[in-house]
Amino acid sequence: MTVEAAGRPLVAIDRDRLAARLDDEGEAFRKSHPRSLELSERSRSSLLFGVPMSWMARWAGDFPVFVQEAKGARVVDVDGHEYVDFCLGDTGAMAGHAPELVVHAIAAQAARGSTAMLPTEDAAWVGEELARRFGLPFWQFALTATDANRFALRLAREVTGRGKVLVFDWCYHGSVDEALAGTQFGVVGPRAGNVGPPVHPALTTKVVQFNDLDALEQALWARDVACVLAEPALTNIGIVLPDEGFHEALRDLTRRTGTLLAIDETHTLSAGPGGCTRAWNLEPDIVTVGKAIGGGMPAAAFGVSGELAERIAEHTEADYEDTGGIGGTLAGNALSLAAVRATLEHVLTEEASSHTIPLAERFAADVAETIEREALPWHVTRLGSRAEYRFRPTPPRTGAEAAEAIDPELDRYMHLYALNRGVLLTPFHNMALISPATTLTDVEAHSEVFGLAVHDLLAR
Ligand SMILES: Cc1ncc(COP(=O)(O)O)c(C=O)c1O
Repeated sequence: MTVEAAGRPLVAIDRDRLAARLDDEGEAFRKSHPRSLELSERSRSSLLFGVPMSWMARWAGDFPVFVQEAKGARVVDVDGHEYVDFCLGDTGAMAGHAPELVVHAIAAQAARGSTAMLPTEDAAWVGEELARRFGLPFWQFALTATDANRFALRLAREVTGRGKVLVFDWCYHGSVDEALAGTQFGVVGPRAGNVGPPVHPALTTKVVQFNDLDALEQALWARDVACVLAEPALTNIGIVLPDEGFHEALRDLTRRTGTLLAIDETHTLSAGPGGCTRAWNLEPDIVTVGKAIGGGMPAAAFGVSGELAERIAEHTEADYEDTGGIGGTLAGNALSLAAVRATLEHVLTEEASSHTIPLAERFAADVAETIEREALPWHVTRLGSRAEYRFRPTPPRTGAEAAEAIDPELDRYMHLYALNRGVLLTPFHNMALISPATTLTDVEAHSEVFGLAVHDLLAR
């Protein structure tokens, strides 16, 4: 069967065949992972949802594989299967698993003391390096990107005296209450499934579609928005790239309305050492970044412009130092900062990008070739060392368009098929992250598995 889209005849997926293939893959997974199954069943008696964190239940099998060890771009599970890892801890292990110099730095710092509520020299080094990379002079640390974003929003409200935040529909900035909002027919509401929102998000948040400059202008015009919190490209609903001129207009509109602009580079660090901020010459007031920078250790940071730093300091009545809402006892701890320093100094470097980005290009080119050859109504997008395919023929311009392409069964089939053949993809995405340890052979392994998954699904 074929359908017409994107100016070419495309095949439609046979849903019965998909369901049957999914059953086969599920059965194969259960049979080949007895030890993971056993541990999963055991965990159900002590862990809520049977996993240490609820989202670990999202993997495509009926239970997650339990990890024995992870090194470089490889994960070995407790049943002895080895995987090429393109998930990389959904960016947390973007530097590759257990990079040697990071492991040494962590071990050395752990032996010297992990946390003392006092700074170490590494903090100064990391601040200077982040300033060099992102062009913002002053930095603070957190343990998660969620916290970095929360602190950024609090500071933005403090200095502007405004109550609201603006985010783009289908964004994700961690479990930040203000950002867990969506919009339908122009009405702001909680994101579907939002767990116990403290207040209705319309009270705190405006939401517009990515790339919709008219809606953005309208939303900012009332001058009640403290801060726009944005990824430079959406990455959590597949990759949605900005239109030509979008960022210039976003910066112009925020400046003209006295709104601060926070750019969340947590995922878009894939664009290079200074994320999209550097690659696209963006001029945010705030940059937030987390996950990858710790080389596997919990670490995050936010940086502010010189002008914003002055405005923050002018608010002498604000309790920045104790219980005012910005903090975290272990934020900026010596162990995390030793890991961040080693990661930025030795692993996620300029040279690393010149290895990872071409490999991601190859990954995307191979996927595109299969899509084209098999006339699938899918496309693949890339942002630096991150590539993702999606089940619609053309790249979306907004989060809402991207969301329309969600296909949980197809998603599960592609993930499970890959998992059963030694390839890990992130459960929330059809995404590949390329680490400095990833090789061309790894990418070719995925290309082959992707081609076979499609072939078995279509089997004409
Ligand atoms: C863009 C972005 N910002 C922030 C976060 C939150 O990171 P964390 O879960 O480490 O707090 C995420 C998580 O996926 C993210 O994708």
